[in-house]
Amino acid sequence: MATTRMLGSTLLLILLSTVVSELCNPQDKKVLLQIKKDLNNPYLLASWNPSTDCCKWYTVTCDPKTHRINSLTIFSSVPDTNFSAQIPPSVGLLPYLETLEFHKLPKLTGPLQPAIAKLTNLKFLRISWTNLSGPVPTFLARLTNLTFLDLSFNNLTGPIPEALSQLSNLDALHLDRNHLTGSIPPSFGSFKSNPDIFLSHNNLSGPIPASLGNLNLTQVDLSRNKLVGDASALFGLNKTVQIVDLSRNELSFNLSNVEFPASLTSLDLNHNKVYGKLPVGLTALNLQYLNVSYNRLCGEIPMGGELQSFDVYSYLHNKCLCGSPLPSCTSSSL
Ligand SMILES: *[C@@H]1O[C@H](CO)[C@@H](O)[C@H](O)[C@H]1NC(C)=O
Ligand SMILES: *[C@@H]1O[C@H](CO)[C@@H](O)[C@H](O)[C@H]1NC(C)=O
Ligand SMILES: *[C@@H]1O[C@H](CO)[C@@H](O)[C@H](O)[C@H]1NC(C)=O
Ligand SMILES: *[C@@H]1O[C@H](CO)[C@@H](O)[C@H](O)[C@H]1NC(C)=O
Ligand SMILES: *[C@@H]1O[C@H](CO)[C@@H](O)[C@H](O)[C@H]1NC(C)=O
Ligand SMILES: *[C@@H]1O[C@H](CO)[C@@H](O)[C@H](O)[C@H]1NC(C)=O
Ligand SMILES: *[C@@H]1O[C@H](CO)[C@@H](O)[C@H](O)[C@H]1NC(C)=O
Ligand SMILES: *[C@@H]1O[C@H](CO)[C@@H](O)[C@H](O)[C@H]1NC(C)=O
Ligand SMILES: *[C@@H]1O[C@H](CO)[C@@H](O)[C@H](O)[C@H]1NC(C)=O
Repeated sequence: MATTRMLGSTLLLILLSTVVSELCNPQDKKVLLQIKKDLNNPYLLASWNPSTDCCKWYTVTCDPKTHRINSLTIFSSVPDTNFSAQIPPSVGLLPYLETLEFHKLPKLTGPLQPAIAKLTNLKFLRISWTNLSGPVPTFLARLTNLTFLDLSFNNLTGPIPEALSQLSNLDALHLDRNHLTGSIPPSFGSFKSNPDIFLSHNNLSGPIPASLGNLNLTQVDLSRNKLVGDASALFGLNKTVQIVDLSRNELSFNLSNVEFPASLTSLDLNHNKVYGKLPVGLTALNLQYLNVSYNRLCGEIPMGGELQSFDVYSYLHNKCLCGSPLPSCTSSSL
């Protein structure tokens, strides 16, 4: 009898303590279970067991004070081809989310779910390596707490919304590896936070807006698009830019008088139509990478700095570049 009673009260205690230690907000739990259902119960979410505390589930975290779900990160280290679904509208019902991620899910399809517009506390949004299609939605511009926006390696089409420049806390914008068209919005020159900008591997056309020269950028990758015209607004002695990749575009401007900032460590201009000479100012830089191959440059490669530390492949296929590491200039080549 006594043992039975003791057992009974121990059981009760255990029961009580599970109830008490369940930190998860019941509404959040309900929403997460709906998300799991909408995603067709994927293996990735096997730990989402209704009888356990959702603050302990994999791929989610709770705020330590409010115990509300503040992060949902569904990703696979190897592409998970079993995971076949769209982004569930119910993600919009997790109002405390600061981090939302879907990564390496090649069968995640459909548009960028409009319900994401409701997640005004989001700071980190990454939906990458999926087959998401449709446009980069303008509603993203209202998520002004975003510091990191990564929609790279998807199947997004259409233009880049100019309103994105209203994201005044953004540290990095990754829209690379999609099928985006149209031009780079001139409004990007009014970003308050000087984000790193990655737009490579799209079908962007038109010029690089001169307004980008207003920014104190650190890193910019516009490679593999169809950009034309002048890129010199990105440079200038008082700039802060370190890494610039403009390779494989149709840029056409005279490099002779471009002044490069001391901050520049990596410059890739390969496969464009850049003409003129390599400016002597390049010898003053601490360059770790330089590639000006496949352009229309001419004249002698200035001696000094790091310029002779690169091999011929950094300089090949120009109109008439010469001098070390290329063959020396003859009077006819100058
Ligand atoms: C996908 O499903 C197959 C068959 O059910 C399973 O063997 C495999 O481990 C699953 N892959 C992943 C990444 O879950
Ligand atoms: C999108 O789907 C296609 C065909 O199923 C696949 O080859 C491709 O790798 C997927 N894209 C991504 C980014 O996973
Ligand atoms: C941004 O986050 C703060 C708290 O970190 C919050 O007070 C504010 O409402 C959020 N901004 C928006 C636009 O919701
Ligand atoms: C991108 O979407 C288009 C149209 O929806 C589709 O035909 C194409 O296969 C998709 N690309 C990839 C890589 O899945
Ligand atoms: C760019 O457009 C061309 C022609 O329309 C197309 O063949 C190519 O696949 C597109 N590239 C990207 C990255 O969208
Ligand atoms: C860039 O830096 C300069 C000098 O520090 C500053 O005056 C200017 O406001 C900065 N511009 C932006 C967009 O941060
Ligand atoms: C560089 O000079 C321009 C024009 O004088 C100025 O607007 C900009 O803020 C300066 N940038 C930096 C980083 O000092
Ligand atoms: C490039 O600019 C320099 C300096 O202004 C000028 O001497 C040169 O003729 C220009 N080169 C071309 C190809 O226009
Ligand atoms: C420069 O670009 C060309 C063309 O893409 C490439 O063949 C070469 O290897 C590059 N050079 C270096 C040093 O990466």
